[in-house]
Amino acid sequence: MENTIIVGTQWGDEGKGKITHYLAKKAGIVARYSGGNNAGHTVVTGGKEYRLHHIPSGIIFPGTLCIMGNGMVVNPDALLTEMDDLGSQGVEFSNLRISDKAHVIMPYHRLLDSSQEKNRGEGRIGTTGRGIGPAYTDKIARKGIRIGDLYDRELLRKKIAYHAGEKAEVLEGTEFTADSMFERLVEIAERLAPMVTDTSLLLHRELKNGRKVLFEGAQGTLLDIDHGTYPYVTSSNSIAGNFSVGLGISPMWVKEITGVSKAYTTRVGTGPFPTELEDGVGKYMLDKGHEYGTTTGRPRRCGWLDLPVLRYAVRVNGLTSIALTKLDVLSGLSSLKIAVAYKLDGKEIKHLPYSSELLDRCIPVYKEFMGWDEEITQANERPGLPPAALEYLEYIEKDLGVPVSIISVGPGETQTIA
Ligand code: GDP
Ligand code: IMO
Ligand code: MG
Repeated sequence: MENTIIVGTQWGDEGKGKITHYLAKKAGIVARYSGGNNAGHTVVTGGKEYRLHHIPSGIIFPGTLCIMGNGMVVNPDALLTEMDDLGSQGVEFSNLRISDKAHVIMPYHRLLDSSQEKNRGEGRIGTTGRGIGPAYTDKIARKGIRIGDLYDRELLRKKIAYHAGEKAEVLEGTEFTADSMFERLVEIAERLAPMVTDTSLLLHRELKNGRKVLFEGAQGTLLDIDHGTYPYVTSSNSIAGNFSVGLGISPMWVKEITGVSKAYTTRVGTGPFPTELEDGVGKYMLDKGHEYGTTTGRPRRCGWLDLPVLRYAVRVNGLTSIALTKLDVLSGLSSLKIAVAYKLDGKEIKHLPYSSELLDRCIPVYKEFMGWDEEITQANERPGLPPAALEYLEYIEKDLGVPVSIISVGPGETQTIA
């Protein structure tokens, strides 16, 4: 295999965890470059379901080197809980490495996240409440605490004291004081110490030695801080290009970029969603697809596949292939629709408009397709799919000009046609 980026093409939860794990068999290394524990990546294999938030989805295979890059924000307490949960399922972490330049999500970031959401009222983003936005805010304001700082006690104490003062209002009345936050981090630092390193240097050496790397994106193209449906986005760059910044390696290392897309569309949180279905079909997708957030358990909003969204994802990520997931969920619907364009103020457009306000006014122009009744969760080759499913797939490929190289027909590792 070539060094490959796995990136979400929609609003997250496309099945990146499943596809990363599936491809990780052939890679020596899986590296995450952005986001934090706002992500929830699910892997189902050997009759077990694993839920990953910070840790790359390659960790299930013993021997895969897993890297959490400098572009990530890490909640050390939540990371330990994640490790304990996965550890109880038999996963081990001797191959996990964390960048010393990744930023720390502190308790005050979570408190600020929820108070800022409350203050937004009607305009709330529907964040995951994990403190992601405030942690990236401190990073960009050049005052964040980095993982490497956990090993310089004087610096750590000084930084925490500064933030305890600056964020006194939100900390008031909580269990968190400058001392308690310092002591907890020092305790955690010891457990994480064997994993903390210069991951840019490590990755560069491994790449030079010819080891193959999967770069596991988090969130999705339309949640990207620059290229997503601003302001209803996350606080980091989730598109493929950020792999280089978020890991400290050259963009020249990558040959393949696989965009993961559901066979329909979902979104958690607020913000525009032109093809959203608030009817029985949307409910069918919610129920059949078990569309509840891996991180927060919130029901996901569901709707038809949106080609203007996918064309955009092809462009801004430079996709070389598509992994289409959850095709099985569409079985049983008598007819299907795909948005092929939008009507904006009476004019037909084929591409996403610049703002969320404009996207909110877009009315999808649909093309209708025949549905199929057969359950396809056991299908193991493309020609074995019902003709209507093949027609649906081929239309998507032709419109996007990108091959669907992987078709996923169930959550399990073996329910994959490649
Ligand atoms: P990620 O954030 O992109 O990794 O996606 P999530 O794990 O948050 O959400 C995808 C959900 O769909 C998970 O529960 C997966 O187990 C499940 N899933 C993935 N692929 C398929 C598929 O092809 N069919 C079905 N029915 N479920 C799938
Ligand atoms: P994975 O990697 C789906 C959404 C939140 C909210 C917005 C901002 O599992 O695909 P944040 O907490 O990041 O400030 O929330 O972004 N969001 C996701 N939605 N999947 C994710 O990750 C998400 N990460 C953030 O729901 O709308
Ligand atoms: Mg998810």
